[in-house]
Amino acid sequence: MAIFLDTGKIEEIETYRKMGIIRGVTTNPSILLRSGVTGGMKGVEKRTVEIARLIAPLPLSVEVTTNDRDGMIEEAKMLAGLAENINVKITIHGPEGEMENLEVIHELESRHDVRVNVTAMMSAQQCLLAAMAGATYVSLFGGRVNNMGYNACDEIAKLRSLLDTLQLDAKIIIGSTREVLNIIEWLDAGAHIVTCTPGLIQGMIVHPYTKETVRMFLDDADKLKKLL
Ligand code: E4P
Repeated sequence: MAIFLDTGKIEEIETYRKMGIIRGVTTNPSILLRSGVTGGMKGVEKRTVEIARLIAPLPLSVEVTTNDRDGMIEEAKMLAGLAENINVKITIHGPEGEMENLEVIHELESRHDVRVNVTAMMSAQQCLLAAMAGATYVSLFGGRVNNMGYNACDEIAKLRSLLDTLQLDAKIIIGSTREVLNIIEWLDAGAHIVTCTPGLIQGMIVHPYTKETVRMFLDDADKLKKLL
């Protein structure tokens, strides 16, 4: 069971890496955009290398920026070649339901030695097929699943049971984390990894009652030190 950080910001990654509580980092084009990456593809490559070096040997997921069949393969090979700890995100299908993506995923894993994180998945059935195609990671978007009125915990439990029974090696990553509660409940439901924003990890750590208790200890410690 592990927690990954879902961000492209160096300072945020450094903060939680130093605490020793994260086991990897995930990004996507929207996250990199929000993380202030500029300079086109060169900028993406630069930030990717920076993060990969910072967290090595922990894994970093970076997503391709095209849905063209050959373009995905070329870009995935290029991104994976930037550092040993990089795995490449490919969506389960294209924006119009194009299905070549699974072929690309299988080819990258079986012929090009690229570890693939299959992403933007909303159901156990999509994840199962991605795992069968040879994916290293299968990313289920738990928050979006819940927003559609399904229960992410049920999808996770079904998927974990199938992967174990079929002895498929793919690791389940649950992303799209919306609440602090999701992290523990999704790990408990069977996810290998939950990826979340730094704010949610902070929410796991800091508790108002702990603050009050620590304040009491410090105030009493001051009084103790003044007693003759
Ligand atoms: C997971 O790997 C994704 O980067 C991410 O969690 C997507 O979440 P969103 O629903 O907030 O876009």
